[in-house]
Amino acid sequence: MDEIIIEGGARLKGEVRISGSKNAALPILASTILASGTSTIYNVPDLIDIETMGKLLNHLGAKVDIETERVNVDTTNIKNPEAPYELVKTMRASVLVLCPLVARMGEANVSLPGGCAIGARPINLHLMGLEKMGAKVEIEHGYVKVTAKRLKGARIYLDIPTVTGTENLMMAATLADGTTIIENAACEPEISDLAESLKKMGARIEGAGENIITIEGVDNLKPVNYSVIPDRIEAGTFMVAGAITKGSIKLKDCIPEHFDAVMAKMKETGVEITEEDGGLRVKGVKSPKAVDLKTMPYPGFPTDMQAQMMALMTIAEGMSVITETIFENRFMHVAELRRMGADIKVEGNTAIVHGVPYLSGAPLMATDLRASASLIIAGLAAKGKTTLSRAYHIDRGYEKIEEKLSALGARIKRERE
Ligand code: EPZ
Repeated sequence: MDEIIIEGGARLKGEVRISGSKNAALPILASTILASGTSTIYNVPDLIDIETMGKLLNHLGAKVDIETERVNVDTTNIKNPEAPYELVKTMRASVLVLCPLVARMGEANVSLPGGCAIGARPINLHLMGLEKMGAKVEIEHGYVKVTAKRLKGARIYLDIPTVTGTENLMMAATLADGTTIIENAACEPEISDLAESLKKMGARIEGAGENIITIEGVDNLKPVNYSVIPDRIEAGTFMVAGAITKGSIKLKDCIPEHFDAVMAKMKETGVEITEEDGGLRVKGVKSPKAVDLKTMPYPGFPTDMQAQMMALMTIAEGMSVITETIFENRFMHVAELRRMGADIKVEGNTAIVHGVPYLSGAPLMATDLRASASLIIAGLAAKGKTTLSRAYHIDRGYEKIEEKLSALGARIKRERE
């Protein structure tokens, strides 16, 4: 497995282009199942998770060509309703083919994703919604088997505003007979992006991006050409990297209103963020102030940015209280940050961080995608050398991260094992 090696201390300078959003591209690629023919999705980042989605669509019978920043998917011959454990276990977002398969073929046999490093992550709400729409749902041998001649429109209340649950059920509803209303829907920008792509396919959707979404079922959809939004979490990650190294970097091709909460929190620490001809300028300060943060569903502070902000708080002035309300085990980065000299105490779903004057580089191990990002950020600011093993975790969600960071002046390289 690859290792990433960082010599800390360089102040980041220069410009970085933000890639397309992983969490918008994945549901949009899955949604191509809903229409027979060739769709082309643009601005798709070059990531392990995108390759996995491509393999899964191939397995279902689609012809997938992944080129630079775009993916062609020919779904004419989709005929296999099964998403196997071997693929699903490597990427939970595989569950996003469940509803498109039921809507297109009347059946799906998808391996249950199982837990992952950050939590149990059940899909009970996805399945509850499908049952409300008249589907038969059976769970056996670790697979969920769903059958429905044709789904019916229904009123679905989500106990939790689940992101992929909202996406799955919105896709199911596009071809259902009648109207579906999803209440307490997730409002993330990736939901709106999926809705825009579905509407281009002929779907009738109102309210995506708000917590009540209404979908009028149609008889069929047509293939689409669509370009996904930039990745707000990659943008936030680079903002923190610029801040923690006391550098000055410009983010290009990002949509600032997609990360208002992150910008507000960063500004609270004293980091300077200004709009600069079509991009965002981020300037770090000598000693950022400690701030409290609590992860919440969009538009609240995103859980996918919690680990990265914690890295910044480890060298901030004062005490920061960080509360993780979305996942039950999303502090895997704490033990590794502590090995770099951070002062962090975890009580349940709250981490208390006391800023220290500096971190020191250390051999670290990546455990999950955003924890890996946090450790890279910490390594950029630490004194001395940091090595991060199991770098494939970072490659799941960040396109060419060490190339982008070294172009900003970071002393970072990858050792291929
Ligand atoms: C999406 O995961 C993202 N993944 C995650 O990003 C992100 O952290 C998460 O939303 C929250 O914003 C993709 O979009 C591919 P949820 P998802 O369903 O949809 C519970 C990354 O780093 N829940 O919104 O799986 C669940 O256990 C990844 O890019 C149920 O109980 O998250 C969790 O505690 C990590 N039953 C909470 O809801 C369900 O049926 C939120 O989960 C569904 C979810």
